[in-house]
Amino acid sequence: MDNSKAITVENFNVLFNGDRTKHLHVLENISFDVKNSSFVSIIGPSGCGKSTLFRLISGLPTKDSCEIGGKIRIYGRKPETASKNRDLGLILQKPTLLEWRTVAENIELPLEIMGYQKEKRGKIVTKLLNSMDLTPYSHYRPSELSGGMQQKVSIGRALAYNPKLLLMDEPFAALDEVNRRRMNNEIINIWKEMNKTILFVTHNIQEAVYLSQKVIVLSKKPSTVYKTVEIDLKYPRNEVEGCSKYFKYIKEIREYLNEASN
Ligand SMILES: Nc1ncnc2c1ncn2[C@@H]1O[C@H](COP(=O)(O)OP(=O)(O)O)[C@@H](O)[C@H]1O
Ligand SMILES: [Mg+2]
Repeated sequence: MDNSKAITVENFNVLFNGDRTKHLHVLENISFDVKNSSFVSIIGPSGCGKSTLFRLISGLPTKDSCEIGGKIRIYGRKPETASKNRDLGLILQKPTLLEWRTVAENIELPLEIMGYQKEKRGKIVTKLLNSMDLTPYSHYRPSELSGGMQQKVSIGRALAYNPKLLLMDEPFAALDEVNRRRMNNEIINIWKEMNKTILFVTHNIQEAVYLSQKVIVLSKKPSTVYKTVEIDLKYPRNEVEGCSKYFKYIKEIREYLNEASN
């Protein structure tokens, strides 16, 4: 098994079955890989199939019947197996926290499901709350928190069982600019300090450049990998976001995205 690759996607195709005559070809011959410990973003026009790809990488079932071709591997395993093996943590646009549980209890939930003993659960949750600066909020209910904080708690929940890989589908899209930037910095810290691999889906060019080491630009559907851009900028990115190279990446990706949307 090639441990240097967290994700490999090979010649991946997805067709949704409509009525007899209408098939919607969403993803066409998508191939890319994500190196272990890297931060990669996928960007593309809305409706191009980012969430579909995300669900299939996550091992989540697709809602309707669809035809799938090609191969996805997570650390050499099928997505469903990787998911069962707790290799991956998912963070979606909506935090989906349980309102009747406190912050601490929400983070604890996956550990309960996995059958961890109470004492062990407590230790993990305390440590996570502490390292994410969430301790003062541990007894809050989700509705008492801002959108950004709720998303932070759902990141905490995804981190509870210590997955190697985090998959994020437009997690900060609902946040205002200030909170989005705050969460961008938080996720970079988590990535570095906890040594995670992150695949991040966004339609925001600035966010993709600010976060990533590599940006994959998808075209409109049937969507293919239009370009891949390596972002050769050091972290922390708040120290380089004013530099001309940073703006050059934004401009370059904007051009690709325009071309790929036509
Ligand atoms: N379960 C489904 N059945 C049929 N069509 C679907 C289904 N899920 C998504 N689609 C279609 O596939 C395309 C891509 O959707 P999606 O992956 O959500 O795009 P994105 O996340 O890039 O905005 C859209 O045209 C959408 O209508
Ligand atoms: Mg989507």
